[in-house]
Amino acid sequence: MKRFFALLLTLLLVMPAIALGEANDYGNYTSDFTAGTDGWYARSAGEAAVSVSGNALTITGRNATWNSPGRDFNLLPGKKYKISVQVLQSSEANVEFMISAAHSKNGLESYENLGKAKAPKGCWITVNATYTPAEFDNYILYVETVGHGTVDFSIRNFKVELDELYFNTSLPSLAEIYAPYFDLGAAINQSQALDANRMAFCDHQFNILTHENELKPDSVLDISASRNLAKEDDTAVAVHFDAAKPMLDFCQANGIKVHGHVLVWHSQTPDVFFREGYKSSGNYVTREVMLARMENYIRQVFEYTEANYPGLIISWDVVNEAVADGSTQLRESNWTKVVGQDFVNRAFEIARKYAPEGVKLYYNDYSTPYEPKLTGICNLLDSLIADGNIDGYGFQCHYSTTTPTPTQVRNAMQKIAAKGLLLRVSELDVGISNTSDVNLTAQANRYVDLFKIFMDYADQMEAVQVWGLTDDRSWRGDEFPLLFDDRCMPKPAFYSVVELVNGTK
Ligand code: XIL
Repeated sequence: MKRFFALLLTLLLVMPAIALGEANDYGNYTSDFTAGTDGWYARSAGEAAVSVSGNALTITGRNATWNSPGRDFNLLPGKKYKISVQVLQSSEANVEFMISAAHSKNGLESYENLGKAKAPKGCWITVNATYTPAEFDNYILYVETVGHGTVDFSIRNFKVELDELYFNTSLPSLAEIYAPYFDLGAAINQSQALDANRMAFCDHQFNILTHENELKPDSVLDISASRNLAKEDDTAVAVHFDAAKPMLDFCQANGIKVHGHVLVWHSQTPDVFFREGYKSSGNYVTREVMLARMENYIRQVFEYTEANYPGLIISWDVVNEAVADGSTQLRESNWTKVVGQDFVNRAFEIARKYAPEGVKLYYNDYSTPYEPKLTGICNLLDSLIADGNIDGYGFQCHYSTTTPTPTQVRNAMQKIAAKGLLLRVSELDVGISNTSDVNLTAQANRYVDLFKIFMDYADQMEAVQVWGLTDDRSWRGDEFPLLFDDRCMPKPAFYSVVELVNGTK
């Protein structure tokens, strides 16, 4: 719940047009009474009054059960909310409390009792309720008693929380806002691609998407069919795109671009791809056979996607993560073992041969800002540039709020931009250890620092893509690294990235 308060704080800071009493875009709200009555007032004919002390709000002077602390809320009709409040009374042996809603339609007020709980004298208790508001003109939530119309009582920690996913397409669109600078995108996996509501939200926020896993070799390679083909020709490769289709179909139908990830990678590539007959018992194939398999694989990926989704995939990660950590050398992998040190150059050569005209070819890697890896990446890029088959470099950017520093990121970007390549931020996320206000703010600030750098390279920067939509579906799910939380509520980082372009950050 703290994060909703943090969100509210951010809204107050960056979006002064949204008044306190309006909660936020979703009606999520916490009143912790640390700063006055927070919009709460006494519902009565004038005799009752509310006051705040010790992070609680107390009502006195009641003379009817409905005399109560109440507050106006923006709630979304048809959405399910959880509501809770702590209550204390010190007058009677037992008093039953209710959370209730008052609302009006065409000037006529009506009421609903949402949840009840009994409070023994002198004990703070919690009253819980769920509520799915119907379509009314306004909503007041309040806390009243059942009988006991004159007892004073106090409330604290009043919380309203949306209890379902909410894909709000009236939020500002990142793709629209960043259109003057670069494409704005995300990685989405197959199960998300099959969720119409989530995809409608993606369509609103992004103009380019990447398959999180479904265009990787372990998804595309059809090993059993390849095994059959290998009986005749050990260089033959069978491919299938079943897992990738839902997102390709969606993007094609909705005019969203696709960045392809990834043709050649040491990871998520079956070991049997490198073995005779595609059998785990087989020896590793020769360099020649492997290069022929590489060519057959890449050719068929381009043939299939271009035949079925012409023009949809505008760029590809041809090779991913070839440079070793803490080194200037290539990492050892099945690719270096079976093909050799030139496997990256060969992959780009083949990709260029089969890529449709205009499709941009990228080398993609992580930990770019760190030496000596940065030098290794630069050396590799230099050799690929000399071959004439590379168009761009993709910075993965799986970062934290402290590392790498913005200076390190800028330095690396400068070094690579100077080579005249196109750039993209292919896999952005910024991890935090928990969703405390402090962490959410640090995360928002780091997103802003990074976006400032990306905007400085807008001339070469083709796209910035976050690696996922909501925190719960992130590959770094325990680090809350994305712009939207589990329920797809925009986090402070989202608003900060929006405000960066609107000029108030
Ligand atoms: C990750 C996916 O997000 C996970 O779902 C999968 O289990 C492993 O791969 N660098 C990359 C991406 O280039 O392909 C990786 O994606 C994250 C790191």
